[in-house]
Amino acid sequence: MLIAYLSYSGNTEEVAGMILEHLDSDYIKKDIHRIGLDPPVDASIYDYLFIGTFTWDKGSTPEEVKDFVLEIGYKPENVAVFGTGDTQFGGDDLFCRAVDKLVKFYNSKWDGLKIEQSPRGSQEQKIEDWLEGVLSDVRSFA
Ligand SMILES: Cc1cc2nc3c(=O)[nH]c(=O)nc-3n(C[C@H](O)[C@H](O)[C@H](O)COP(=O)(O)O)c2cc1C
Repeated sequence: MLIAYLSYSGNTEEVAGMILEHLDSDYIKKDIHRIGLDPPVDASIYDYLFIGTFTWDKGSTPEEVKDFVLEIGYKPENVAVFGTGDTQFGGDDLFCRAVDKLVKFYNSKWDGLKIEQSPRGSQEQKIEDWLEGVLSDVRSFA
């Protein structure tokens, strides 16, 4: 699996870290890719691709994430999307809009995971539940 994420102030990075913790199994090989920082990756060598992003500028996807999508260059089959946002920037309509956009673009099998700001605390369960949904598919794949 590849877990690729973009984070400026750390919230999305925290979610990526929690996903990594919960994927703590010897049977799953995991790589981390920091979008905009790490050298380009070959997405085709992975069975699953997790993409994490925050939302920006009235519901926009950050440019670095758009570049990453172009860099991948095709639509892999198993893309799971997670992200963080803040309802103070435009309410429910714009909350984690970048997650919705990526879910739609990749025609993801799973709903996007949307976390409000930092995932520490009550939202941790949400991450576990979401991951469990993705992993049930991984188990059938294995
Ligand atoms: C200028 C600005 C615009 C933002 N616009 C949105 C938005 O439209 N929708 C949303 O859900 N969050 C919005 N946010 C909140 C960020 O997505 C949120 O703080 C996120 O957790 C930051 O992720 P990071 O800590 O990984 O960088 C905005 C934040 C800033 C600073």
